Amino acid sequence: MSMDTPNVARMYDYYLGGTEATPVDRAAAEQVLAAVPQVRVAVRENRRFLERVVTQLAAAGIRQFLDVGSGLPTQRNVHEIAPPGSRVVYVDYDHYVVDRSQALLAEVDDATCLLGDVRELNDILDRCGLDLSQPVGVLMLAVLNFVGDEDDPAGLLTSLRKRLAEGSCLALSHGAREDTNPVEEIETGYRRTNGQAVLRTREEVLGLLAGWQVQPPGVVYGAQWPDATGDPGTRLTFAVLCRV
Ligand SMILES: C[S@@+](CC[C@H](N)C(=O)[O-])C[C@H]1O[C@@H](n2cnc3c(N)ncnc32)[C@H](O)[C@@H]1O
Repeated sequence: MSMDTPNVARMYDYYLGGTEATPVDRAAAEQVLAAVPQVRVAVRENRRFLERVVTQLAAAGIRQFLDVGSGLPTQRNVHEIAPPGSRVVYVDYDHYVVDRSQALLAEVDDATCLLGDVRELNDILDRCGLDLSQPVGVLMLAVLNFVGDEDDPAGLLTSLRKRLAEGSCLALSHGAREDTNPVEEIETGYRRTNGQAVLRTREEVLGLLAGWQVQPPGVVYGAQWPDATGDPGTRLTFAVLCRV
């Protein structure tokens, strides 16, 4: 993908206050923010979900983390939160993201980034180097909202579940399609980038998780997880944790 095309991972880093974006990324991000200013807060809510869920998985004893659709490992990411001795594998399908991540992680023990497509999860599991006979915490944050129904995301998650050991978990976050949300503006804003946004309703997100044990409080707004009575925040993302 050319550096002239706005890149969703660098735009994401820009929303989070990072320094990875190019001028074309910043222009595309500012266009999205002009239409939907809450996006800046929503990505922070999503990053706080990542912090909270990795902390919870670590407290449950998980020491292997597979973050698929990881984006850039900046701005307080999994390897900075997981306990020492954990193995962290970031995976993205964007060659630029993988090269840049490998450079950023060069000095970090036990964290790496692989090229892989979430639509080919079995291939990722074959190559990730994690011990699949032991629990793995799989993260898919704000990535399935770039995977259309034609790629059968529910089927992908079923085959993932069958490959993981008992005690493994999946943390998912997903752009929210709700009547009150500016769905059209978000989908239009991403049309000129390297990723086409596909927002889903709460029921559609739950429908991706057939066969998984959805943990309380279920599919909630990202800002609320794990306390469904908390402030719903922007309501632009859903978050959920499930067990195999
Ligand atoms: C919005 S960013 C989210 C980054 C990170 N997961 C987070 O929540 O902070 C989405 C990332 O998913 C990646 N991505 C999109 N489609 C993908 C696919 N089919 N396979 C792997 N990665 C994908 C993009 O390259 C991008 O880095």
